[in-house]
Amino acid sequence: MAITVPQAAERAAAAPARLARVAVAGATGYAGQELVRLLARHSAVTLTDAMSSGAASAPRPLPALKRIWDGAVAPLDVERLAANAEIVFLALPEAASAEVGAALLERGVRVIDLSGAFRIRSDADRRRWYPATAALPDGVVYALPERHAAAIRGARLASCPGCYPTAALLALEPLAAAGLLDGPIVIDAKSGISGAGKTPSQRTHFSENHGSVAAYGVFSHRHTGEIEQELRTRVTFVPHLVPLDRGILETIYVSLRRGTTEVQVSAAMQEAYASAPFVRLTGAELPEIKHVAHTNFCDIGWRIDEGGGRLVQVAVLDNLLKGAAGQAVQNLNLMLGVDERTGLI
Ligand SMILES: NC(=O)c1ccc[n+]([C@@H]2O[C@H](COP(=O)([O-])OP(=O)(O)OC[C@H]3O[C@@H](n4cnc5c(N)ncnc54)[C@H](OP(=O)(O)O)[C@@H]3O)[C@@H](O)[C@H]2O)c1
Repeated sequence: MAITVPQAAERAAAAPARLARVAVAGATGYAGQELVRLLARHSAVTLTDAMSSGAASAPRPLPALKRIWDGAVAPLDVERLAANAEIVFLALPEAASAEVGAALLERGVRVIDLSGAFRIRSDADRRRWYPATAALPDGVVYALPERHAAAIRGARLASCPGCYPTAALLALEPLAAAGLLDGPIVIDAKSGISGAGKTPSQRTHFSENHGSVAAYGVFSHRHTGEIEQELRTRVTFVPHLVPLDRGILETIYVSLRRGTTEVQVSAAMQEAYASAPFVRLTGAELPEIKHVAHTNFCDIGWRIDEGGGRLVQVAVLDNLLKGAAGQAVQNLNLMLGVDERTGLI
């Protein structure tokens, strides 16, 4: 299917008569500010509230969003969120999301969560990676829109994938589904510093990472559990911090089933994303972070060692958009039944 970009007049004509009421908790964070920016000009919603952390945080404007959204961010108030909004975005640390998400569901509000709190289905694995979430509420959907659109439309809580897993799963799932993978999978991932959120640490301090690259979380990064859950196989996942503000690049090394050809790899990828507006396949032209920064696209390219059974994929995305706020808005569009591209292109 050819994917065309809707023009402004088309978009206005497609806007629903009634605007859905949405709110953002965690609006002062990196992902939360991106959400406010996207939602303030989204044609199908009205932004009722944007909230920061608890009672100790005073109401404040978001200077970077002046003339895009001129409201004031208020301290977190679950009752107010539930009273004013039909759908609430949570861009909070996972322990706060676990608590606020459950409270909103009890009040009949739909939730789109950007944290890891609701991603892991096995109780044992969740205790290891996200111990703040004692149990998964009913109606939680692992919300990778390219794979689970039908379930997301009816979700009570859309649990958005992590930034690293989004790139890894979009690259690998079509090959797994086609039965082309055979052997170990190695995901070598690089991320810009905004992936760690706005609160600086020694690792994210400018003078620590400027001019350097460092591996971290080897065999212990939480996104390993999520990638393995969705692929149903073990992976070796090694993230690195690189001195960029935003963007992720993953180089993925896989062994292919004996005799697999470039034509089969291409066919599996093309078939998976024939009608996916935000996945761009670049084939042998390997993509770069600068092609996707500030967009909701995930670009995926690959090279095959035909006869040698080896494949290298390269997947890139913007961690704050396709890896966080943009993907969350894509999920909102599915939940509202509007064009998946609304507010994103
Ligand atoms: N950054 C990324 O690339 C990325 C990608 C995918 C998913 N995520 C996930 O998205 C969530 C937000 O990430 P972020 O990078 O935007 O984080 P961030 O920059 O650290 O922002 C955190 C936000 O949560 C608020 N907050 C902090 N503690 C809170 C509490 N106890 N109760 C209520 N609100 C609280 C903060 O408010 P104050 O301003 O008042 O402190 C701020 O608005 C995290 O779960 C993260 O794992 C992030």
